[in-house]
Amino acid sequence: MGYNNSVYKKIYEEYSQKYLIARQRADERASELRAAIPEIARLDRELSLVGIEILHASLSGGDTQSKIAQIRSKNEALQQRRAEILVANGYPADYSDVKYECSKCGDTGFIENTMCSCMREALVLAGIENSGFASLIREQSFENFSLDYYKKSPAHLDRMTWNKNFLVNYAECFDERKSPSILMMGGTGLGKTHLSSSVAKRVIEKGRDVFYTGAIDLFSQFETQRFKTYTNEPNELIERYFECDLLIIDDLGTEIINQFTVSTLYNLLNDRLSRKKPTIISTNLSKEDIQKKYTDRITSRMFGEYQVLFFMGTDVRAQKLMKK
Ligand SMILES: Nc1ncnc2c1ncn2[C@@H]1O[C@H](COP(=O)(O)OP(=O)(O)O)[C@@H](O)[C@H]1O
Ligand SMILES: [Mg+2]
Ligand SMILES: [Zn+2]
Repeated sequence: MGYNNSVYKKIYEEYSQKYLIARQRADERASELRAAIPEIARLDRELSLVGIEILHASLSGGDTQSKIAQIRSKNEALQQRRAEILVANGYPADYSDVKYECSKCGDTGFIENTMCSCMREALVLAGIENSGFASLIREQSFENFSLDYYKKSPAHLDRMTWNKNFLVNYAECFDERKSPSILMMGGTGLGKTHLSSSVAKRVIEKGRDVFYTGAIDLFSQFETQRFKTYTNEPNELIERYFECDLLIIDDLGTEIINQFTVSTLYNLLNDRLSRKKPTIISTNLSKEDIQKKYTDRITSRMFGEYQVLFFMGTDVRAQKLMKK
């Protein structure tokens, strides 16, 4: 699926504006110059006729080539004169040139038919904004995930080193039709959310649509939608849970569990699994808790088909506070 549609549309619109705005700004600066320097006003009038002169020359017959060459060199001389006047009046020579933010693509976002790197970057930033946890993604990355916090126990360190390496590799090789789903299990403050946002960041950078949600929000949105179904309006948010390339459900088990939430979760997980769309779930619950709360059906799908990562150690948030 790639870039989220609404993100793509938004950036595309921004770009068509950008290009126009750059031209409009240049026009405004040119008007300013004409008002300030009469000689520029005169020159600009003359320059504005060049196009028509060339047209006349090309239709007039005779030696059109040399006539056009003559007009061109006159044009260059006028431009040269204009630049000199600007500099003499304390303006930069290119003051009223169109100034694009990106000189490579002239703010169109494309070079021939390939997307310019500036547009790709804008899409990544917008993807992060649209991911549901932009502020976490900006703060938490593989780079500032330290394994030092797990050093007290070699077993914990081993396990967490393995988890981190697995996830770095997972993000690097992410494939929205092939990557497995992941279940992160373990106590509070062990880095589940931190590593989820690290993965999300890389995957968004690869141009994929990532959507993050806390379990509480997820179910409350499905609940809201449930009472709206009579309107038959497609709900974009609900659709995104099913359609995004990578769905991250954080803190499963913090929501109030009832028949509705259990069947909602089952449908969502099942649908994504059957279409091979990866999901990352994190939870503080043990396998027994999950079984008790969500039925065997869900448990067996999750433990049968998800890659399970066990997080171990002591609450990193608490360790950080102790150090302060
Ligand atoms: N290994 C780590 N290195 C650096 N910061 C970490 C690490 N693990 C967790 N943190 C930080 O500790 C806090 C709690 O981590 P978090 O990922 O929210 O834990 P969890 O989701 O497992 O409850 C966050 O601010 C997070 O950035
Ligand atoms: Mg968390
Ligand atoms: Zn560009």
